Amino acid sequence: RITGFVFDLDGVITDTAKYHYQAWKETAKAKLNIEISPAVNELLKGQSRQDSLAAIVRFGHQEGRRSAAELAAIATAKNQRYQALIAHMTQADILPGMAGLLNDLANKGYPLAVASASYNAPVIIARLGLSNLLANVVDPGAVARGKPAPDIFEAAAAMIKSPCATTVGFEDAAAGIAGINAAGMFSVGIGSAVTLHEADVVFPATGDADLATIERLFVAKAA
Ligand code: G6P
Ligand code: MG
Repeated sequence: RITGFVFDLDGVITDTAKYHYQAWKETAKAKLNIEISPAVNELLKGQSRQDSLAAIVRFGHQEGRRSAAELAAIATAKNQRYQALIAHMTQADILPGMAGLLNDLANKGYPLAVASASYNAPVIIARLGLSNLLANVVDPGAVARGKPAPDIFEAAAAMIKSPCATTVGFEDAAAGIAGINAAGMFSVGIGSAVTLHEADVVFPATGDADLATIERLFVAKAA
C-alpha cells in the first residue's frame, strides 16, 4: 500500500518552470550574451540556482571567465527577475487537476510533502493558497546533494514518515525522475514520455494524472 506522496513544485503543481526559463533566458542574454534554448532549459529543470548558472556558463563556453562574485551577482539578478514574474501568482495558477488531486489525496489520508530545489517554494505555495495542504516542504539548503541524487526525496519522505519503498514521487524533470527512482520510490512523470522514459508512469499533463492508475501500477510493480 502507498504510504505517502512527494511532489516537485515547479512544473508539477504550478507552471513556474516557464518563469524560471524566462528569467534565465533574459539574464543569460543580458549578463553573459548567452542564448539559451528550450533544449538547454530542459537540463536546468530541477537544478539549483547555482548549478543552473554553472550549466549555462558551460553551455556558452565561458568556464573560468567569471569571478565567483560576478556569478553570485548574476544568480541574484536572475532571482530578482524570477521573483518579479511570480509576484502576481494566485490560486488560478495551480496546474489543471492538481488542486483536486491534492485534496483527494489528503481526504484519503495520504501525507504529502514537497521536494523542490527552489528557495522560493514556500512563497509560491502560499500564493497558490496551498500552505495547509502542502505544509511539509523540504529546505533545499538542508540536503547534501541536489537532483538527480535521491537526497531531497528521501528527506521529503522522512518528513512525512513514509518509507521510500511505498512513497510515490511526482516530477516534470528527467533529473527529478532519476532522483525519485534512486530513492527507491514509485515515479510519476508529468510531460514527455521520451524525456521522462525512466518514470514508472508518465502523464502528458497534470490534468491526465489519475490516482486510480497510479495505485494500480504501484501494486503491479510491487507484486
Ligand atoms: C526548481 C526548478 C529549477 C530552479 C530551482 C531553484 O528545481 O525546477 O529550475 O533552478 O528550483 O530555484 P530557486 O527559486 O531557488 O532559484
Ligand atoms: Mg520541476
